[in-house]
Amino acid sequence: MPEHTARPDTPANPHPADPAPRPVDWVTVEDPPEGRWSTWTSVTRLSRGPEPRPSWVVTADAAVDTELGVLKSGKEAVCHLLRRAVPSDPDRDSLLVAKRYLDASHRDFQRSTVYTEGRRTRNSRDARALARRSSHGRAVAAGQWAQAEWDTLVRLWQAGVSVPYPVQVDGTEILMEYIAVDGEAAPRLADCRGTREELRGWYDQVVDAMERMASLGLAHGDLSPYNLLLAGSRVVVIDLPQVVDVTVNPNGMELLHRDCRNVGDWFARRGLDVDAEDLFGRLVAALW
Ligand SMILES: Nc1ncnc2c1ncn2[C@@H]1O[C@H](COP(=O)(O)OP(=O)(O)OP(=O)(O)O)[C@@H](O)[C@H]1O
Ligand SMILES: [Mg+2]
Repeated sequence: MPEHTARPDTPANPHPADPAPRPVDWVTVEDPPEGRWSTWTSVTRLSRGPEPRPSWVVTADAAVDTELGVLKSGKEAVCHLLRRAVPSDPDRDSLLVAKRYLDASHRDFQRSTVYTEGRRTRNSRDARALARRSSHGRAVAAGQWAQAEWDTLVRLWQAGVSVPYPVQVDGTEILMEYIAVDGEAAPRLADCRGTREELRGWYDQVVDAMERMASLGLAHGDLSPYNLLLAGSRVVVIDLPQVVDVTVNPNGMELLHRDCRNVGDWFARRGLDVDAEDLFGRLVAALW
């Protein structure tokens, strides 16, 4: 029986029959003058960011997404700037980063296996395509990296780690909070100079983020001052597709150690009295 056929009201059917169809008021929906209708309503609940949602997240049906251009193109993804706003309502206006994973000439597959050991694949066709590195395999990989980064962003946000708020995921695209200073993209820590006091404040925040991750059993896996943004005095951790579970991945400890060296050495070179090996010891202790 087709799903929407009216059912008789019989004792065998406890649900009342569908009410008589009412006349429908047709509304003509035109394309917005610029951009596309917000994709918020087209993604499933699990593809939307965790609650409680920050008040700036625009969820209205009438919202429009407008591309503002490329923020930065990387090896594995291109970050675009996107405006999601309700044209008639200046209070509902947000800037987002759309990180779109590339499906061809993606991250070096050889290197990827360091991070993906132990990761499960949806089905055996996908697993074979990944192994063969076919074009379907590359498309699967791009979606998997986006999903992996999404899952991590959600988990870390909920654990109180300083990461951009994850707004939604849709295939190979993640929309997230735009980390900005006066409307401009926040600089990477690698490009910042600070007094000793400022450096100490930044270092403490990085260690706090690493410790919170370690207490979940996680290491960033590609942490360096290039994947840390500085928004005023707040340090934000980004670029999380390769986060590894140290307790499962056989390369986990090595990756955690490398993260500690990248961070510890950078701060030590700038004159801060910190030691990468001490940091590693502290994080290993936080794992268990
Ligand atoms: N949420 C954000 N807010 C502001 N800027 C961002 C945000 N996410 C990414 N960026 C900018 O885009 C750059 C690339 O982002 P990301 O590191 O996540 O991608 P990537 O493809 O791994 O790049 P790369 O290969 O350079 O590491 C960042 O260095 C940063 O300058
Ligand atoms: Mg990066």
